[in-house]
Amino acid sequence: MPDDNSAELGYAESYGQQWIDRSKFWGSLRYHVRYQKQFIECLALEGSTKILECGSGTGEIAQYAMEQYLSDDGPAVEFCLVDISSTLLKSVRKNLTPPKRVQPHLIRATGEHLPFDDEYFDRIYALSMLWYAPNPKRAILDMLRILKPGGLLCFDIMSIFNPTGILATLSNKISVALRGGQRVAYLSPSEISFMLRQENVEIDVVGYMPFLPTALPGIGNGLNLFNLMNWLPKTRNPLLIPFCNKTIYCVKKNGRQKTKKS
Ligand SMILES: C[S@@+](CC[C@H](N)C(=O)[O-])C[C@H]1O[C@@H](n2cnc3c(N)ncnc32)[C@H](O)[C@@H]1O
Repeated sequence: MPDDNSAELGYAESYGQQWIDRSKFWGSLRYHVRYQKQFIECLALEGSTKILECGSGTGEIAQYAMEQYLSDDGPAVEFCLVDISSTLLKSVRKNLTPPKRVQPHLIRATGEHLPFDDEYFDRIYALSMLWYAPNPKRAILDMLRILKPGGLLCFDIMSIFNPTGILATLSNKISVALRGGQRVAYLSPSEISFMLRQENVEIDVVGYMPFLPTALPGIGNGLNLFNLMNWLPKTRNPLLIPFCNKTIYCVKKNGRQKTKKS
């Protein structure tokens, strides 16, 4: 583990146990599972041999990705699962049943300081992770560092301008003020665009579930329209994306040198 991020690790273990309990609830929401599958589809995993999930939680998403896209007789695959919480990594170790050609590696680290060489992975993803990370910008840049040229990085954000994002931010601020704990650090779409403009990448952005909240105070997911529908509204319209509940960024790293404008 890098030694300069002990403050970031402070919340990891209490959060780990919470996520083991909460992931069952999220896994019971049909719209959420549909969204997770769409996210994994964006990665185009077929043919990749070095894959990293950052913030792997209980390992359910990696298990789905392996079964769905890596269970045939293709080349050997190195699949790394990184998480800040050793409690969660223990649960991955217990539950993961990889297909024959997949070799999983479980590593405790933070997304902000990934212990891998530059340009190592073909595919990297962070699903529902960045809004828990103390420094999401640094995590995105470190994931880009270890991505091969031509490789694909997919991550999602929850926008602060969506009703769910607004409620989640408020509830986090109140709970941090009353009980302490981890402050969430949301990124706005404009911050991400600004940051990625400095990098040599191509970006595809899709927003999911504009405007409507997925949970309401007191009512929770009881009145969640997305759970009742068989499809997820999505958009590539830059004016609507800030209001989406979740937005997926697919970032392709270019191989060519960036030409600086004079
Ligand atoms: C909401 S869970 C999502 C888990 C999984 N990706 C999924 O979608 O089911 C967020 C995960 O990110 C991990 N996490 C939070 N901050 C992190 C950080 N800075 N570096 C690495 N992992 C982190 C948490 O421990 C947790 O496993």
